Amino acid sequence: MVRALIVGCGSHGGEVLLPAALTAGIQPVGLVDADLDKAKTLAEQWGVPHVYNRLDEVPVRQLDAVLLALPVAQHASNVGWAVDQGLHVFVEKPPATNLAQLRDLIDQVDAADRVCGVGMNFRCAEGVLELGRRLSTGRHGRPAYVRVVQVARKPLEPFGPGLSMEASLFYAQGIHAIDLALSFAPVATAISGQRVRVNRGRLCVVVGEDHDSGTRIEASFGSSAAGLYHELDVFCDSGDLLSLRNLSELSYLPGGGEPDVADYPGARVLWRRSPTNVGYTAAGYATELASFKSRVLGDADPASSQAAVLRDLLPTYRAFDELLTCWDVPWTN
Ligand SMILES: NC(=O)c1ccc[n+]([C@@H]2O[C@H](COP(=O)([O-])OP(=O)(O)OC[C@H]3O[C@@H](n4cnc5c(N)ncnc54)[C@H](O)[C@@H]3O)[C@@H](O)[C@H]2O)c1
Repeated sequence: MVRALIVGCGSHGGEVLLPAALTAGIQPVGLVDADLDKAKTLAEQWGVPHVYNRLDEVPVRQLDAVLLALPVAQHASNVGWAVDQGLHVFVEKPPATNLAQLRDLIDQVDAADRVCGVGMNFRCAEGVLELGRRLSTGRHGRPAYVRVVQVARKPLEPFGPGLSMEASLFYAQGIHAIDLALSFAPVATAISGQRVRVNRGRLCVVVGEDHDSGTRIEASFGSSAAGLYHELDVFCDSGDLLSLRNLSELSYLPGGGEPDVADYPGARVLWRRSPTNVGYTAAGYATELASFKSRVLGDADPASSQAAVLRDLLPTYRAFDELLTCWDVPWTN
């Protein structure tokens, strides 16, 4: 049993993290929100026994973990507070507002020897895990070119007075897109990129390359769409393409060379999300929390370690930091 406090009961903490924690078998024993009425309404709805206005009002004795879904600039200090109290933490993305802060936080978590899971749900979405399983058979070879597109409708403004617009796009979409691309092709670390002109919102493209191995990633992300659009294409060195559209349908386009391909060279659908499964597991939220729970308890990991811990975010922050440096744009104004 993992007894957790949920801190931040807004749209993500209240509507996603809380029900996903219950699905994952984590027991929410208290809710914290600066808006106490919001916390009370949710506590009543889900049968959570305690509500608090502030974190420093909470008796931590009977807690194992905190789950944080706060405004982005408040995550790092609250992760620090929790590990100092001896608690494990699951923090929604972004765990830190810049690379230097992430590095300091990793040191703090390591020194406290606590688990710090990070909400990178796309890693654990059903379709992404399915694609990973397919690659692990070895029949497609090695991912040579990975392309992720993730666009949504916000942010149109920076997330806070001190945060740049580019950093805000990273906190919202880019962190997921770059992390996912690098998780399939981790060697593509020579970074460049571009801000693309669109008439509403913003669009950025991050490119990573490794010329020695002939590996490339492209992660495009922004706020130019009316709703979430997601695309993950993995081109393998065998010539095979595995393509996951909107986390809903995984297709395989053979590169050729195998006898069965001559008869039918077209795309094969390998997996489709069930139309009734639109919930927390399909999107990866419950799966990553189940992984977090297993790590806290020292059990076998049900998501085979795809779920992110704090240190896993370093390559993604490094890549975006490199790009901001080349654009001469700060993380924080
Ligand atoms: N993993 C994902 O895909 C995903 C998706 C959406 C949001 N998120 C993350 O979740 C976090 C929350 O986003 P949201 O959309 O729910 O925001 P929100 O503004 O709806 O909720 C934030 C909540 O925190 C409360 N709060 C603010 N300061 C507080 C404090 N000091 N103590 C206690 N409560 C405080 C607010 O009252 C509010 O209820 C963000 O960091 C965001 O990046 C992650």
